[in-house]
Amino acid sequence: MSNYHIKNLEEYFQVYRKSVREPENFWAEIAEEHFTWRKKWDNVLSWDFTKPEVKWFENAKLNITENCIDRHLLTRGEKTAIIWEPNDSNDEAQHITYNQLHKKVNKFANVLKSKGIQKGDRVCIYLPMIPELAYAVLACARIGAIHSVVFAGFSSKALATRTLDADCKMLITSDGSYRGAKTLNLKNIVDEALEDCPDVSSVLVVKRTGEEIEMKEGRDEWLEPLMEEASDECAPEIVDAEDPLFILYTSGSTGKPKGMLHTTAGYMVYTAFTFKNIFNYTEGDVYWCTADIGWITGHSYIVYGPLANGATTVMFEGVPSYPDHGRFWQIVEKHKITQFYTAPTAIRALAKRNIEFVENHDLSSLKVLGSVGEPINEEAWHWFNDNIGKNQSPIVDTWWQTETGGIMISPMPYVTPTKPTYATLPMPGIQPSLMDDDGKEIKGNQVNGRLCVKFPWPSIARTVWGNHERYKDTYFSTFEGKYFTGDGAMRDEVGYYRITGRTDDVIIVSGHNLGTAPIEDAINEHPAVAESAVVGFPHEVKGKALYAFVILKESGESRKRDNLRKEINQQIADKVGPIAKPDKIQFVEGLPKTRSGKIMRRILRKIASNDTSDLGDTSTLLNPEVVEAIIAEAL
Ligand code: WT7
Repeated sequence: MSNYHIKNLEEYFQVYRKSVREPENFWAEIAEEHFTWRKKWDNVLSWDFTKPEVKWFENAKLNITENCIDRHLLTRGEKTAIIWEPNDSNDEAQHITYNQLHKKVNKFANVLKSKGIQKGDRVCIYLPMIPELAYAVLACARIGAIHSVVFAGFSSKALATRTLDADCKMLITSDGSYRGAKTLNLKNIVDEALEDCPDVSSVLVVKRTGEEIEMKEGRDEWLEPLMEEASDECAPEIVDAEDPLFILYTSGSTGKPKGMLHTTAGYMVYTAFTFKNIFNYTEGDVYWCTADIGWITGHSYIVYGPLANGATTVMFEGVPSYPDHGRFWQIVEKHKITQFYTAPTAIRALAKRNIEFVENHDLSSLKVLGSVGEPINEEAWHWFNDNIGKNQSPIVDTWWQTETGGIMISPMPYVTPTKPTYATLPMPGIQPSLMDDDGKEIKGNQVNGRLCVKFPWPSIARTVWGNHERYKDTYFSTFEGKYFTGDGAMRDEVGYYRITGRTDDVIIVSGHNLGTAPIEDAINEHPAVAESAVVGFPHEVKGKALYAFVILKESGESRKRDNLRKEINQQIADKVGPIAKPDKIQFVEGLPKTRSGKIMRRILRKIASNDTSDLGDTSTLLNPEVVEAIIAEAL
């Protein structure tokens, strides 16, 4: 019996040791026991990180939708697969059973086929968080087409770049989308993008908002009538384990976005295994991840991981602030959510609001809380733990990347004792290593270095679409024979990992290695502070000095700003050390953020260095307008 579900710490260590000593046996047992294969593999793993090349379950044959849908029908056909919660809290939620999902996906797959889409073709999906987004993704997988989901908040330019790069034949979109009180016309954005993409010959349009849009003759069609006509039977295309499943773009620090390519079998096995263990998933749970399916978090932990386990997964169309800041908690209560997985930026935003938004709701169904996307600061961790989890629900701080396909370092709830701001221990099969700047592995505990992974895991991205050289340069060239994550990490006295942020966030001040996260934690603990970001700028004596951008809870707090600066400095001196005191503290109204809520430190670094001539592409920012205001008041 394979250890698909780890139940205590002792078992974790046992399983972990096995996964390192006999990785092939370890993953083969899990793959064998928990999935449906049309043909078993000839070889579990072949790899070479210098090429780099990784193949899992070579020559096995399968279809991932058969694993995510068909095989559940006998036992869970009438169970809810997806709960869709619409933007407007007065509209009714949809409960989509596995039987219904099966029919929808088959119909959609037949529509794709009728438009000439075949195995290996790329299909761009640009949809809001509506059920059709999940159907579209799964319909592609059903016929072996490669989906490339582009987050429906991206601009027409960003959409065009991605559509062209993947050479998509088809694009699936909607007339518009609802985001809180706002309506966005998506089809106009698509029309603009497609002016630059002549090879997209077919556009399918889902009706959502009902607003006026233009339909281009011969290219655009409404999805609904096609779905009605299509048969609800579509035999799954049987693909090879290493056949591509999807492309998902992630922005690099330079150049155009990288289309990370994920393949089928390894991705399926790893996301299913990690979903089960990291969320302690049990039959009957109602799991909710608040991410958008436009990000890897949504791919792996809204769609594939949960459905591969026959779970009920929630898709939320709206935003946490609509109709008010209690929406998340209202949904938790309404659907009796058992696992709630969100991002630190959302936690911080909600923590600023009146606690009544939380207290008005019964959150007693919760048993696991999750965090992802950036280091969770200590204050946010405690707020989440105390107010949402009521100190009863373990927080899983899950570290991973678009490139890793699945969660790499995380506590397992009720198994791994948690520690605020620590992602804790590697998942079975994950072999992290910390490297110093000379390329040597740092052994032992209580150390700090650059986070690498030295052995392949099943869901590692196999290449950058159309640019294998870039894949090699970005991830496998900094440290020979190792996958370099780009992150820095600490390993504490018991071997727990704390991610300190992108290594370019590590600032060396007078020879001291300072991660930005602990300094920001110290600043944020000041009662007047809402959020902060610390970056380095060149300094004659210290090499680098620190510049802090600080948002105050009440912007009118301009009164004693100098006093505030003193207090913040004192707080940093107390919590981190006097060396970490910033040279400059600027009070700002907002921080430039990516659509996924990450602070764009690259821009802040330039402002801090007084080098604003070339800020690079700010068009994909959530709030480009804050940049000018920050520049205008820079110190
Ligand atoms: C980068 C990857 C994969 C989920 C969504 C983000 C940062 C992610 C954590 C965490 C500290 C984290 C890292 C990583 N990150 N999760 N729990 N603690 N940092 O995917 O956009 O590919 O970003 O997000 O810096 O490298 P992504």
